[in-house]
Amino acid sequence: MTSRDGISALRQEFKGEREDLIPVLQRVQEQDGYLRPDAIRSISRWMKISENEIFGVATFYAQFRFHPPGEHHIKICLGTACHVRGGEQILSLAETRLNIKPGETTADGKYDLDRVACLGCCALAPVVAFDEKFYSQMSVLKFQKILDEDSSD
Ligand code: FES
Repeated sequence: MTSRDGISALRQEFKGEREDLIPVLQRVQEQDGYLRPDAIRSISRWMKISENEIFGVATFYAQFRFHPPGEHHIKICLGTACHVRGGEQILSLAETRLNIKPGETTADGKYDLDRVACLGCCALAPVVAFDEKFYSQMSVLKFQKILDEDSSD
């Protein structure tokens, strides 16, 4: 579904009031995988909210992406349990290795990176999700190995 089609469908569903902004952005991201600039432009015209304000609201929430998703999705948990057990170090390694920040995609389109608030298995902290697979008790070395093995495929 293109963004334009997506936006017209959303116009049937939402009134276009200010309080609809977050759910509308969530729906657009579900459809397109990220918030495309043309989608933000269409939403701005429809809801009469400036593009800058929409970007401001969307950047406040870590869930929104401004780049197309990569082939593989890496989610690093930084919820309390994972944070205290070294989640930040794993994120920092991922940023350095992939040369991207959370919310971005590598230049070759292979990986995207996100930080998440909890993956729902805190007893196994720190946790990293690589596509649909969850890796428990992750360490910097283990994470490095996963990336090495994946890039040698
Ligand atoms: S805090 Fe990481 S899985 Fe819950």
